[in-house]
Amino acid sequence: MAYDIEREIERAAEVIKASRYCIALVGAGISVESGIPPFRGAGGLWTKHGEPPMDGYQRLMRDPAAYWQQMLARRESGDEFVRAIDAAQPNPAHLALAELESSGRLKHTISQNIDNLHFVAGSRSVTEIHGNRTKVRCTGCGARWPFEEFVITELPPPCPLCGAVVKGDTVMFGEPIPEAAIGACYAESEQADAMIIAGTSASVIPAAWFPALVLERGGTLVEVNVEETPFSDNCAAVLRGPAGELLPRLVERIAARGRTRGSP
Ligand code: APR
Repeated sequence: MAYDIEREIERAAEVIKASRYCIALVGAGISVESGIPPFRGAGGLWTKHGEPPMDGYQRLMRDPAAYWQQMLARRESGDEFVRAIDAAQPNPAHLALAELESSGRLKHTISQNIDNLHFVAGSRSVTEIHGNRTKVRCTGCGARWPFEEFVITELPPPCPLCGAVVKGDTVMFGEPIPEAAIGACYAESEQADAMIIAGTSASVIPAAWFPALVLERGGTLVEVNVEETPFSDNCAAVLRGPAGELLPRLVERIAARGRTRGSP
């Protein structure tokens, strides 16, 4: 049977309308239309520049002053990624998820992105499993501050609460995901009977475990991606194309179904 995007959007709308607890798992692909390159695939940061060292966190803990000097220099340097993420604004994909959340259809979003764009778009029920680049976090007590409000009097700046090393909130390779974030992702995935997987290669764990957990518990997956992913064959609907185009169409279809059937 030939691929028919209208049929897939209709199927996806049915799944989400019938769901009791729908969540979303999103990745770099959802911010590509905001001008932020993905990590893998064509034009990916890692594709172009190679993956960063897998022991970034261990290096930080060995020499936090060097880490801070590098991090501040990079923020000033305005390299390709920093310029792109500094200039980025939410695109229709972020706005569609925020709308779906405020309609009550989407209960939670697990984001692998550090760009803060879901919050700028108006989403509120979001777990940023890889952290948020606009914040800093204490490696000891886990306290967080907006980067702009965190007073740096020395390098490395100690935590004002417990004295431990403070770092950017972005989770580095080799760094354990903060317990609160991973706990929230499991709790949401264990409740979900439907999951939208949008703009992620679903190739990095633990994030890639959550769609499998939803499936294991009898839930249904819907995918939005320009390319195949390891979950494509396990999805009830596959929206093959840009998230910024297809997520708004999906949200519109869900709303339209409500209007024709008199239910919100
Ligand atoms: N719309 C929808 N999907 C898109 C779009 C788009 N406009 N552009 C790209 N994609 C898809 C790609 O096909 C790919 O499947 O988005 C995905 C991006 O994959 P990755 O670059 O691997 O990003 P992600 O899945 O978020 O990576 C996970 O890996 O390196 C770490 O910490 C990093 O959070 C990141 C994690």
